[in-house]
Amino acid sequence: MLQPINSSFKGKDIVSLDQFNRASILRLFKEAKILKKIPTKKLLNVLKGKIATLIFFEPSTRTFSSHSVAFKKLGGQTIEYQNPLSTSSSVKGETIEDTVRVFEQYADVIVVRHPTKGTLKKVADAVRIPVINAGDGIGEHPTQALLDLFTVWEKHKKLDNLKVLMAGDLLNGRTVHSLIRGLSMFPKNTIYLLSPKQLRLSKDDFEAFSKKGVKLVEIYSAKDIPTDCHFWYWTRVQKERFNDKKEYEKLKLSFVLTKKLVDEKAGKNTLLMHPLPRVGEVETELDSDYRAVYLTDEVKNGMYIRMALFKLILKTS
Ligand code: CP
Repeated sequence: MLQPINSSFKGKDIVSLDQFNRASILRLFKEAKILKKIPTKKLLNVLKGKIATLIFFEPSTRTFSSHSVAFKKLGGQTIEYQNPLSTSSSVKGETIEDTVRVFEQYADVIVVRHPTKGTLKKVADAVRIPVINAGDGIGEHPTQALLDLFTVWEKHKKLDNLKVLMAGDLLNGRTVHSLIRGLSMFPKNTIYLLSPKQLRLSKDDFEAFSKKGVKLVEIYSAKDIPTDCHFWYWTRVQKERFNDKKEYEKLKLSFVLTKKLVDEKAGKNTLLMHPLPRVGEVETELDSDYRAVYLTDEVKNGMYIRMALFKLILKTS
């Protein structure tokens, strides 16, 4: 059973967006907003003496570095494992449960990325210190969804009554799975889901998310994108989840975010979002568009949201 956050983050694991509600999401955003305004040198006592262990069994640019920077900006220190399958005793066959039990003796919090859905729940159950899910296979990526929601909230000043487009690999994209959960907590949100038929949300996910109250509309052609969405959330086709690489090659550029498409279908306030990395599905020409936030606000907010999470989870006073 995942612990609900409710009114307190203290000591809690962050494994799924399902642990949150409207109030806990907005509590986190309030903290992130405050931290954004405080000069770094004034924050160095917040987590002084605390240690975070980062263990990433899958590659990462943003999630790894932003957790690391966030912890250090609050005065803490980190133990960092990228690629533990060649640099830790995992290579000798140590189980992940044993690995994290060891780090429990040294650290105050553990951040883990793993290729297998469900592993983060197992890790959280194995230790008493808080564990943060940095992505578990095709499961969830809760901190990415929180930074995405924060970015939308900052720009549109609300998280309800939104018209949203999500495009790409909705079957395997863990960021999408967490983001839909987050949007489902706020009323009257409609999400248009654009993907090739092979990469639409699983039937189970579609039904489970729909029951939460969010309206999901599947579309299969860019022609059917509604105009004036509040944001577009483009995603990469997840090569690493395909057994058949020919199938990946066939599908990888099914939908490309182009300037032409933006000119035709986006509104003047439509945010252009992407969790990154991108591998050809977003034209670089759009990077300088004033609505594009994938290389700017989303990345920067990732650091502040993770600072806020660490502070709320670990702060003693
Ligand atoms: N958004 C995201 O998870 O990026 P990384 O894989 O680089 O961490």
